[in-house]
Order: sequence, then structure tokens, then C-alpha cells
Amino acid sequence: MCKRKYGMALIGAGMVSAAHADSIMQLDETELKLVYSRTEERARQFADRYDVPWTCDYNEVLRRDDIDIVDITTVPFCHADMGIEAARQGKHVIVEKPMDISLEKCDALIEACQTNKVKLAVIFQNRFKKAVCRAREYCHADGLGQLLYGGAHVKWYRPQAYFDKDEWRGKLSTEGGGALMNQALHYIDLLLWFLGPVAEVYAHTAITPVHRNIEVENLAAINLKFRNGAMGIIEASTCLYPGLPERLELYGTRGTITLERGSLSSWNIMNATENDEPGDVEEVTGTGASDPMAFPITWHKAQIKDMCDAITQDREPLVNGLEGRKSIELCRYIYESAEKGMPIILP
Ligand SMILES: NC(=O)c1ccc[n+]([C@@H]2O[C@H](COP(=O)([O-])OP(=O)(O)OC[C@H]3O[C@@H](n4cnc5c(N)ncnc54)[C@H](OP(=O)(O)O)[C@@H]3O)[C@@H](O)[C@H]2O)c1
Repeated sequence: MCKRKYGMALIGAGMVSAAHADSIMQLDETELKLVYSRTEERARQFADRYDVPWTCDYNEVLRRDDIDIVDITTVPFCHADMGIEAARQGKHVIVEKPMDISLEKCDALIEACQTNKVKLAVIFQNRFKKAVCRAREYCHADGLGQLLYGGAHVKWYRPQAYFDKDEWRGKLSTEGGGALMNQALHYIDLLLWFLGPVAEVYAHTAITPVHRNIEVENLAAINLKFRNGAMGIIEASTCLYPGLPERLELYGTRGTITLERGSLSSWNIMNATENDEPGDVEEVTGTGASDPMAFPITWHKAQIKDMCDAITQDREPLVNGLEGRKSIELCRYIYESAEKGMPIILP
């Protein structure tokens, strides 16, 4: 398949959907053909901002021949179901994180995309940040030496109004989890990308009194042992006012790399030569510490472009379905450990 512009349908017209729509409008590779939302008011208002047609009928999206890629930005529990239907109609699928709240449904989506020979990309835009890419490449080439310890620190704050605003937030059946499955998932994904699979997890989670009427954790502290022998830690919250910028910490036998808001905050290598320099990785970032949308669209745009390139070149997108499910799988063991109050050895 070789063509310049891919026709895209945006599925969902909520908070994050604007980052997708702006990206699709700005990219040379894509054309926004249609916006879907469940309710007419939302679909119409959103589509009018971009001067594109809208629909509340998902089957209309699936029927249209001029739509190559569906970009799913709806609520977490319907991601896989909508993706599976799209794959069956031969559409390539982009899906926002979390890939779904059920691991079985994640697997069903992966299978549907494989069976129907369409590409699947899961949005983890942080993997496209310059500093993250350089640190990953450097660690992968053993620049840090043997990795000893890694930390994902996402101590954010969301006011009660955030949970009250939409009926799906804070509920197990629609969000699947809280600070881990929703907010910290980006950094859980990065930790796994850097350190590989986990061997053992011991988790504590809580619903602290900062929020009312929520069924999902707003605070979590997790110890990890990775299969490569490294140790790790995850801190996740939506209840620690005012919210600190998220951090990724990586420690190896040769030194330390830390990233804050996706930018380098330290890069200290023992006996460094010029090959150990980070290079120019500066870019404007942002943090979701207290505002979920306080970030530029740079990396959503990069990830949607990566999907177009993957289709054109017939290769896998950087974050394909198998990559996208890893953080969901780990969350499942984290919740099991927290529930049982004991460490879990992963199979
Ligand atoms: N990558 C990132 O940095 C990032 C940032 C924020 C959010 N997200 C992710 O993006 C997704 C959406 O989050 P959001 O904050 O944009 O949500 P939102 O503002 O509440 O929008 C949700 C969208 O889903 C639709 N929807 C609600 N309930 C539905 C249902 N039962 N069935 C089908 N559609 C339904 C809503 O439309 P109607 O009201 O018309 O039904 C709306 O279009 C989540 O998975 C979230 O984790 C990612």
C-alpha cells in the first residue's frame, strides 16, 4: 500500500481527542474525514471546530471506504470492542491508552488485527520524546552498564471535580483502575520499555479520603524485581496536592539518568567519553501533574505519523499491540498483589 494521505476517523470527542484531531489536521500523511461520538451534541460541537462531518453511528465509520485508520479516543472499557469491529472491516487501528481494561480483550484486539492484516498502534506518546528515545537507545547499547534500579514516579493530583465530571471516571467497570491504570500507565510503560519484563511484584494501593465516591486507587506504592535482576519502584497517585512533575529514574553500574516531564534532569556517567554524551535532546515538554492536558501535541503527532509510515512500509508501529498490552498485564499482577497483601511471582 503506497499513498500519501490516509483517511482517518476520530472515534471520541473528549479531552484527549483534540490532541489527535490537531495532529491529524497538521500531518501531511493524514486527512480527518469523520468524527464519531456517542452523543450528537458532543460529536457536532467537536466536528464543527475542525469543519469536518460527524456521526453518532459507529457503523457509518466502518462502512466508509475512504477511511483507512480509525483513531479510538473513547473511554477505556470500550477500546478493544471498537477496535475489533474496525479491524474486521479492514481498518487500521490506533487506540488511546489504556489499550483496554481487560487483558483478554487486549488479546482479542491483537488477534483481530493480525487475522484481518491491519496495523494496531497503542498511544504511549512519551516513547517519542527526544530525551526518552536517546536514553533508551543509550541503555539498550549498555551505556549505563548493567541496569540495577529503575523508578517510575507519578505523584499527581486531580481535584474531586475531575472524577465528578464524567460518569466513567473512578469506576472499576469503566476505567479499570485508577492512578496506575490511567495516570501512571505512561511511566509504567516506559519502565518496562527500559528494564524489560518483571519477575516479582509487591504492591500496596489505597483509596485515600482526598476523593469521594471512587472505586479505584488514588495512591499506590509498588516494589518490583525485574527478570534481568534489577530492582524497581512505582509510585502513583492522584491525591498528592499539588502534584509533582513525573519522573523516570534509571541507575546502572556506570551511572544515573533521570528524566522529569520527559526532559533530562540528570545524565551522569562514570569516566564518560564523547560517546556517552546525551546530545541535543532539548524540546518543550509539559507535565500532567495537576492538569491532564498540559502537554504539547508533538508526540501524538509523531506517533500517528509512525502509524502511517508503518502502513506505507508494511512494518510494525513502534508501539504495537504486544507492546501496548505489557503495562496492562503488569497492572493486573499489581492489583492481585495489593488485593492479596503479598508478593506475586509472575509466570
Ligand atoms: N495519551 C494521553 O496523554 C491521554 C490524556 C488524556 C486521556 N487519555 C485517554 O484517552 C481516553 C479518553 O479520555 P478523555 O479524558 O478524553 O475522556 P472524555 O473527555 O471523557 O471523553 C470520552 C469520549 O468517550 C465517549 N464516551 C463516553 N462514554 C462512552 C461509552 N459508554 N461508550 C462509548 N463512548 C463513550 C465520550 O462521548 P459521549 O459523551 O458523546 O459519549 C467522549 O467522546 C482514555 O482512555 C484516557 O485514558 C490519554
